[in-house]
Order: sequence, then C-alpha cells, then structure tokens
Amino acid sequence: MTTYCGTGLFAGVDLEQLVEHEGTPLYVYSAAMIRSRVRALQQALQGLDAGIRYAVKANGNLAVLQLLAQAGAGADIVSAGELQRALRAGFAAADIVFSGVGKTDAEIDMALTAGIGRFNVESRAELDAIQRIAVSRGLIAVASVRINPDVDAHTHAKISTGKAENKFGVALDEARTWFDHKANWPNVQLDGLHMHIGSQLLDLAPVAEAAQRMAEFCKQLIMAGHPIHSLDVGGGLGVRYRDGEVAPLAAAYAAILRTAFAGFDGRLLVEPGRWLVAEAGVLVSRVVLVKQGESRHFLVLDAAMNDLLRPSLYEAWHDIVRVGGEAGREIVHYDVVGPVCETGDTFAVGRPMPRCEAGDVVAILGAGAYAASMGSTYNSRPLPAEVLIDDSRYAVVRKRQTFDAMIAGEQPATDWKQP
Ligand code: LLP
Repeated sequence: MTTYCGTGLFAGVDLEQLVEHEGTPLYVYSAAMIRSRVRALQQALQGLDAGIRYAVKANGNLAVLQLLAQAGAGADIVSAGELQRALRAGFAAADIVFSGVGKTDAEIDMALTAGIGRFNVESRAELDAIQRIAVSRGLIAVASVRINPDVDAHTHAKISTGKAENKFGVALDEARTWFDHKANWPNVQLDGLHMHIGSQLLDLAPVAEAAQRMAEFCKQLIMAGHPIHSLDVGGGLGVRYRDGEVAPLAAAYAAILRTAFAGFDGRLLVEPGRWLVAEAGVLVSRVVLVKQGESRHFLVLDAAMNDLLRPSLYEAWHDIVRVGGEAGREIVHYDVVGPVCETGDTFAVGRPMPRCEAGDVVAILGAGAYAASMGSTYNSRPLPAEVLIDDSRYAVVRKRQTFDAMIAGEQPATDWKQP
C-alpha cells in the first residue's frame, strides 16, 4: 500500500494501482481534505455573520464544486463559464458573487437573470453596463464596489492585485463618488465593498492593513448615509508548498477580520480558492525516461507544462515524491521536466530525489489549485483525467480527453463565408 508521502492524504489508496487503471498523467483529489478545509474555515469564522465564496477558478471540476457546495460554501465566479459550472454543481444563485475586470454584457445578462447574489464592480463602465442591462430586464442588481486598497501583498508580482498600478478595483475616491451619485444607477443596489489584494499570501500583515482601510472607508460611507450590507475581503490565504514556508492559520485570518470589522453589522464574505483545495490534490505522472545530460540528470515525465503550468509561469515550487517508496535509494539531483518542446517545461531544477527509473511513478504535490484549471492542450496533448478519492473509493470526475474530443470543433476551411 502506498501511503502517499507519509501524510496520509490518500491513506488506504494505492496510487500505483490507481494509475495502472486510470493511466497518467492523472490528477487525484482528496474529498476528505477539501471537506476538512471548509470545516476548519467555517469554524474559524464562527460567531461572525460570514460566508465562504469559493473561487471557482482554483479548481472548477464539477465534482469538486459539488463537494464545496454540499459543505456549505458559495461561489466566486469570473466568467459565464464559471457561472454555469457553479449552477450545474448546485450552488444557490443567491450564494454566487461575480468578480472580474472585464465582464461582457452577455455575461452580466446571464448572471443577472440567473439571480446571482452580488456583482463585484470594478469600473464605472461596468456599473453603467449593469444599470443598462438591469433596466432592460426590469431587475435590480445588487453590487459591491471593488476597491483597490493600494497595499503590497508581498507575493509573486503576477498574482499581486491590490496595488494602485494593478488593473483591479478602483481608488477609494472614485468609489466614494459612485456612492454619492448612486441615484444615477437606480437599478443597481450599491451597498457593499469588495477587495482582493493577491494570492498565495503567507504574511497576513498586508491583509490586516487592507482590512483596516476597508473598515475605515466603510465607516465613512455609512456616516455619509450610505448603508453597507456586505464586505467581501477576497481570497488570498496561502498554503505551504515547500519546507520552510509557514501557511497562515484560518484562526489567525479570522482574528484579523474580527478586529478590523468589529462593530460592522452586515455580512462578511471571504473568497478563498487555493487554501481550500491546493493541498488536497496531486498530479501523478510516470517517468518516461531518465536522460543523462552533459552536466545534468533529467527526469523526463509524461506530465508537462500544459498539465501544470505554475512552475513555468511563476517559477512556483511543487514538492515531487517518488510513489512507492524512497527509502534506501541514493539521492540524485534531477531537473524534472516534461516532454513539451520548451525549456520552460520544467517542474524543478536540481531537485534532490531518490534515484528513479523509467516507468516509476511520481506525484507532484500541491496540485489541487490552479493546476488542472490552468491546463491546456499545448503540443496536442489531451487533457489528463481527474479522480476524486473518498475513503478507499475513487471516482473518475473527468475522463481523460480523447484525441477526437481534443480536436472537436476544428475543421478544414471548406465553408467560406462573407463577414
Ligand atoms: N477572489 C478574486 C477576485 C480573485 O481574483 C482570486 C484569485 C481569488 C478570490 C482567490 O484567490 P486565492 O484564495 O486562491 O488566493 N494562477 C495563480 C493564482 C491566481 C489567483 C487569481 N485570483 C497561481 O497559480 O498561483
């Protein structure tokens, strides 16, 4: 029996056996771990009028979404596709918030008519569009203004979102003028604030600072006669990807919110993605071959950057373990790479690992968030299968993509038309 890297994440499930049946690359998720993360956050938030709005972009697999909906979370969506996934998975429309800097009219219309709980508005043009579409449908849209608190989240530049120069949200002064002139948007019930300062936050100090700014601004708005019913602090809670990193505790996060928003009598919303699912997933892959370069040992896997983009895009670290045991094996420093024709297709450089051979199975850890959801078919590599494990059982929750499914929709240029 493989007890996956001693953590017990998939205790009772033999991953080697699993990939004999389901092939590789294979995403494997633990239902128990996802449920326990939701519970932990709910417990930390107990006593507050607070709701979880899971960021669907982290992992939008329908079975994963269904688990989260059943556990009592709502959803944070950023596209019509995510809206449809969330509804299909069973989230109540009222528990869905719609974030994003470029919502199209069609997306706004779809969300409005579905009856979502709240729009997180990022620009005046968007506010105008929501008003126009709400009038045409005879509906009232409930909305929060996404403020940009201008704090440095101390995370990777590509996932930092709360500095003034980032494209997200609006400055407090701009937000204030929207509230002061809210009669201009009679079909928009503007009664909330939203923010999201960045992702993979290991240091909670910027969260505390941003929350203070939001709380202070909220007080000013209320004093100016604008009722505020909802404060959404976004996502961002980081997880431990490697030794030495210390992930914040849910309790510490909740304590910050309690302090910052003491006295606020509306609803608090949090939009975690990664924290709920990242550590519940692994990408299991087989070693295609071992290649001895002039100065480096390459471990060539059958998974690649199209399956898991984070290392290529952000130089992100993911632990990699040999499934089936490491004991007694000589340590070799490997460049762990995929078969895609780019040097960037590298999962790890000079990584000390037990000696591996062709055919061995390895697991790339921390692959439950921003992993399958960021996958592509680059190099004409079909999307991998995904399985969900619950106790000693597993279910295929996404079939391995076939070649035909991958090219569906493509056709020879025979049907020529005039634009
Ligand atoms: N709310 C909003 C408005 C967001 O933009 C995001 C993430 C979240 C919530 C959830 O953040 P989380 O709790 O997962 O940190 N692909 C990158 C991460 C991008 C995050 C984008 N926004 C990565 O792989 O690290």
